Amino acid sequence: MKYIVQVGREPALAVSEILTLANTYNKQLSMSWIHDSLVCFEGDDGCDFMTTDRLGGALKVIEPLEYVDDVKAAILEYLLQTDGKITFGISSWVDDDALAPQHLSPAIKTVLRDHDRSARFLLPKKKQLDAAAIIHSDILKSGGEFHIIPEGNRVLLGRLTSVHDIDAWSKRDFEKPARDAKRGMLPPKLARTMVNLSGISSGTILDPFCGTGTISMEAALLGFSGIASDADPEAIEATKKNIDWLKTVIPATAVIPAKAGIHINILQSDARDVARRIKKDVHAIVTEPFLGNPKKLTHEQREEHAQGIADLYSDALKNWTKFLENGSRVVMVIPLYKTKKGLVAIPIHDKISKLGYEVIDPPIKTLSLDDQLSPAGNLLYGRDDQRVLREIIILKKT
Ligand SMILES: C[S@@+](CC[C@H](N)C(=O)[O-])C[C@H]1O[C@@H](n2cnc3c(N)ncnc32)[C@H](O)[C@@H]1O
Repeated sequence: MKYIVQVGREPALAVSEILTLANTYNKQLSMSWIHDSLVCFEGDDGCDFMTTDRLGGALKVIEPLEYVDDVKAAILEYLLQTDGKITFGISSWVDDDALAPQHLSPAIKTVLRDHDRSARFLLPKKKQLDAAAIIHSDILKSGGEFHIIPEGNRVLLGRLTSVHDIDAWSKRDFEKPARDAKRGMLPPKLARTMVNLSGISSGTILDPFCGTGTISMEAALLGFSGIASDADPEAIEATKKNIDWLKTVIPATAVIPAKAGIHINILQSDARDVARRIKKDVHAIVTEPFLGNPKKLTHEQREEHAQGIADLYSDALKNWTKFLENGSRVVMVIPLYKTKKGLVAIPIHDKISKLGYEVIDPPIKTLSLDDQLSPAGNLLYGRDDQRVLREIIILKKT
């Protein structure tokens, strides 16, 4: 079985997320690149996680249909099989003007009209349709979006099966009632990917530095139960508000069965002492701790600051070994400060094994994506204009 996935701005994270889920659900998958943002996964059938409703890093999931010699004829044949009014779109990944959507779509519409079929098409600004255009049309219900994909010297025709619900993501990012731009919030898509890196398919996920509750919200939408804790009472209030709000806006694309509901316990606690408050099994920790505030510090002060942050993380990681089972994962953001003298890392990497954990290499480590990894070889999230990059470490309790 083949699955084709269009990934977002962070391909290494997106691919790691999918390969981790394959492992979680005991599926064998191998991957190959078709384009910078188009990835082909090949392997076992029944990879139900291969949908944008589940993944944080995928923009579209595309079903391969067949290799074709005559692209126009093949798309026409598929469209003529659909009932009613047809809405279709074409996205092309090949360098061939004759196969550009701007050329093919009107030509296909003309032939459809000759067959007495009423049709409209969406045109991309460049070569591929964006998610917003698709979800704001009825394309998924009628004709579909066709992808023209190069594979060696053949052309593979694919059809969109799911597209990320850009409205629901941005609603959770920007419209939740409690936001905290000052302390920083995780983008929900990154939170979702981190939850999927936890290596579990059910159970309870703890976020001991919950802030506004972004991680617990994404965990809940995937059907996990959760514990969200934070030392700051304002963060606790914020998380409560956001979880209550989430219950009123569960998107249609949520993985949880609607009646299962959202189950997050929220409690105030220092992350270095949270073990005392944990009364049920925790199957994974997914968290973005306090990342420090290195602004306006000299290079030397920044190193001292980084040491303070490392101490906080060490104490917390040590505390969590009291309730985590061996083999359970901690997926955690740690900051990398960008300075004129280069990147300043938190000096924690060398301490991991003494603290009772092993670092798990991201599954893309061998896939020539080194430029997307941190100097320590972990996943990385950040934009060029950000002064603090997020390194995502995956630890396993030993
Ligand atoms: C970067 S924010 C987390 C943001 C969160 N991921 C979100 O999306 O809203 C870090 C959080 O750690 C909390 N914090 C700092 N030190 C803590 C400690 N020792 N124990 C528990 N929480 C702490 C802060 O109150 C803050 O809410």
